Amino acid sequence: MSKPMKLHKHAVKTVVVPAAGLGTRFLPATKTVPKELLPVVDTPGIELIAEEAAELGASRLAVITAPKKQGVLAHFQEHPELERTLEERGKDEQLDKVRRAPSLIRAVPVEQDKPLGLGHAVGLAEEVLDDDEDVVAVMLPDDLVLPTGVMERMAEVRAELGGSVLCAFQVEPDQVSNYGVFDIEEVDTEAGDVKRVLGMVEKPAREDAPSTFVATGRYLLDRAIFDALRRIEPGKGGELQLTDAIELLITEGHPVHIVIHDGRRHDLGNPGGYIRACVDYGIHHPEYGPSLRRWVAELLESD
Ligand code: UTP
Repeated sequence: MSKPMKLHKHAVKTVVVPAAGLGTRFLPATKTVPKELLPVVDTPGIELIAEEAAELGASRLAVITAPKKQGVLAHFQEHPELERTLEERGKDEQLDKVRRAPSLIRAVPVEQDKPLGLGHAVGLAEEVLDDDEDVVAVMLPDDLVLPTGVMERMAEVRAELGGSVLCAFQVEPDQVSNYGVFDIEEVDTEAGDVKRVLGMVEKPAREDAPSTFVATGRYLLDRAIFDALRRIEPGKGGELQLTDAIELLITEGHPVHIVIHDGRRHDLGNPGGYIRACVDYGIHHPEYGPSLRRWVAELLESD
């Protein structure tokens, strides 16, 4: 049984984690290993997301998986045989690591038979929601947003302004063509980190970009998103786009705001971003950090 909504401190019970994509940018590693299980230092990306979801106070992780990616959910299940062996050998620290993912949050599987797009994947999560859930969080497991805590700020903004709230980063003007860019207007709030969204433009040329605020993989979506997802048409490759459903809500007057996050992000979905994440986590790691820092400095000097 899940806890009632009122016991969730940020009014978010379910975090949806779409993890059924093909991961083509990360082949050949992703031929057999789901990209969500690739480790950042020693922890799979999806466990970092589960930790962020638990910090938000959510109690359910709806993991969208593909038939061939069962290992993703297995990471959130107990492993009695391994646990027994570690226990017998007195490897307590390793035992804690094995038990950590299942203890963070309750993961429930939602199967996506075919990769029909992020919008399609998110739409499938409706079946696991309770009647008292009027909002759902979506966290993309290949997007690390640091420091964590932006979802809490997004929940505050929803409490104040209603509707849906997305996370944005500001990038240099010459970078906008790599991202989904927000068309925004100012809002009158005390903190300057919130803007109202008028629309979105996918990967615009620099001169056509409506702003330098770009989308990330963190969404706090009103339950109305599921109805919108049923009403949009598939785009290229037959995929249902989540941003099309958000755009539909905007045109119908549903309030959508962004919170501008001041921090770092890493795209774990491609090798370049993944390496950066490993270096970032690595140099801040209590055990590996000090020697890694020295080694990187020496390497750069000798290069
Ligand atoms: P991406 O486009 O980044 O992931 O989707 P992908 O399709 O796996 O990657 P490439 O482009 O082939 O390298 C963002 C997130 O949405 C999930 C992905 O698993 C990823 O976490 N997704 C995408 C689904 O769950 N289902 C889909 O049909 C598509």
